[in-house]
This record gives sequence, structure tokens and C-alpha cells, in this order.
Amino acid sequence: MAGNKKKNAPAAEAREAAPAAENKRETGGRSVILSAKDLCKTYGRGEAAVHALDKVSLDIYEGELLAILGSSGSGKSTLLNMLGGMDQPDSGSITIGGRELSSLRDRELTRYRREDVGFVFQSFNLIAELTARENVAMTADISQDKGIVRDMLELVGLGAKLDSYPTQMSGGEQQRVSIARALAKNPRLLLCDEPTGALDYETGKQILIALEKLVRERGKTVVIVTHTQEIGRMADRSIRMRSGRIIDQTENPEPVSAELMEW
Ligand SMILES: Nc1ncnc2c1ncn2[C@@H]1O[C@H](COP(=O)(O)OP(=O)(O)OP(=O)(O)O)[C@@H](O)[C@H]1O
Ligand SMILES: [Mg+2]
Repeated sequence: MAGNKKKNAPAAEAREAAPAAENKRETGGRSVILSAKDLCKTYGRGEAAVHALDKVSLDIYEGELLAILGSSGSGKSTLLNMLGGMDQPDSGSITIGGRELSSLRDRELTRYRREDVGFVFQSFNLIAELTARENVAMTADISQDKGIVRDMLELVGLGAKLDSYPTQMSGGEQQRVSIARALAKNPRLLLCDEPTGALDYETGKQILIALEKLVRERGKTVVIVTHTQEIGRMADRSIRMRSGRIIDQTENPEPVSAELMEW
């Protein structure tokens, strides 16, 4: 992480302890699109209790590329699932668009999950019987004739694979279909859980380049959860988790382009 301005722990704590953010709060010229405050999640009870999240507070800024780093079991996926409304914290709050997620009714929460956030998983989760075009159209709940499906597949470099089935595509191509699928809903936030975890080095790099392009050229907000420390170098900011806590935050004023990164 040479060249990064490391925040020391007290500074990170001070930032976490800042008053709960209102939505779109301006912070040093950046607007907060999502604010999580004191999230706790415990699995199991008594001796066997696991504190998957232990008072995690985090603001996500519009148009940033945020990396969430940490070893296996540190709580990264638990946090991402909460931010995406897929799981609920035992306590704490998540505010987005001026509203708290826990206050949403079922229908509003479903709409939030479907429209406001896009998810990209390690395992792609494509439907084998459907082509790239159909996979994107189906999950986005839009007609496959709509230009958006083609646009998104072209954006991730798959304009020539519209009618290919998952088995006819490489792992990286399948992951790019899943990114196109997440983007077709035009979400304000794209949450990626180990998007390169199942891919070889070169293919993983292509995915990172595609995600970087979404932030730098399309102004999207992208969160990448990863074990790979180096991925933090391409991010505007990285946070590190350990045992359900954020133990470090690093601002990266000069992110390295994914193209040039090696790990
Ligand atoms: N449904 C569950 N039931 C019980 N324990 C769980 C459950 N989900 C997660 N945990 C535990 O919570 C902790 C955090 O898990 P989480 O999946 O968030 O970690 P992670 O950082 O994403 O790990 P990895 O890098 O391996 O994906 C782990 O100790 C895990 O065993
Ligand atoms: Mg995980």
C-alpha cells in the first residue's frame, strides 16, 4: 500500500463516531448515498455466538470505488448483504435516499433490492438455460428487446455474445453477463462480493477493469468485497475488517488503474 495516506486508528474511530449522516449529506464535497450506523449481527448464542458484525459504521459516497478487505470470516459478506437489504441487522441503522431500510414495508424493501442495488456474486448465478441476452433481460425484469440489454452487454465487452449460453462462455464472460444483469436495472449502487474469486488472474483483471470503467466513466458507485489486498490500490477508499469490526480505513487519492495492477 505504498504511497497511500494511512489513517491511524484514532482518526478512523473519530470518523466512525461522527453523527449519523443524513442522506446526500455533503462531506468534503462528496455526497453520502448510503450511511450505515452501528450495525450488529450475532449468529448463535452463548459460547457459540459469533459476532459477524460488531458496531460497524460506514458511509458510502456517490461515485466512489470502495474496497472492503479482510480475511475469511471477518464479516464482509454479512455487511454487504445488509447494505443490499438482503439481510437485517440485529441493531443499528442503514439510511439511503433519506429513508431507513428497517422502516420500509415489504414491498418497498423488495423494490429497493430490485431497483436501487445491483449484486454481483462470486458464483455468477446465471441461468443455464438462458442466453446472455435473456439472463440480463429476465433478472432485470425488462423485455429483452429493450436497447438497455444490448447496451449493458456491450458496455462489458460482450456485444458479440448476446445469444451465447453460459456453457458457451468463459468464467470471465459469465461474470461480465452478471455485471450487465446487475446494471440493467440502473441501480445507484453496485455491490460485488468476491467478483473475481472464481476467476483466473487475467480474467479477474478484465472484471476489475470493467468495474473501474463503471465508476470512472459512468459515475456509478461500486463496492468490491475481496480477500485480495492489492485490489485496494485501485479503489478510492478501502476499509479493512477483522472479527466483525472495521479496523482500518485508507483513503487513496491516486488510485492505480486496474490495467496496471499486479498481484
Ligand atoms: N447464516 C449464518 N449462520 C451462522 N454463522 C454465520 C452465518 N453467516 C455468517 N456466519 C458467520 O459470521 C462470520 C462472518 O461471515 P461472513 O460470511 O460475513 O464472512 P466473510 O468476511 O464474507 O468471509 P469470506 O471471505 O470467507 O467470504 C463468520 O464467522 C461466519 O461463520
Ligand atoms: Mg464472504
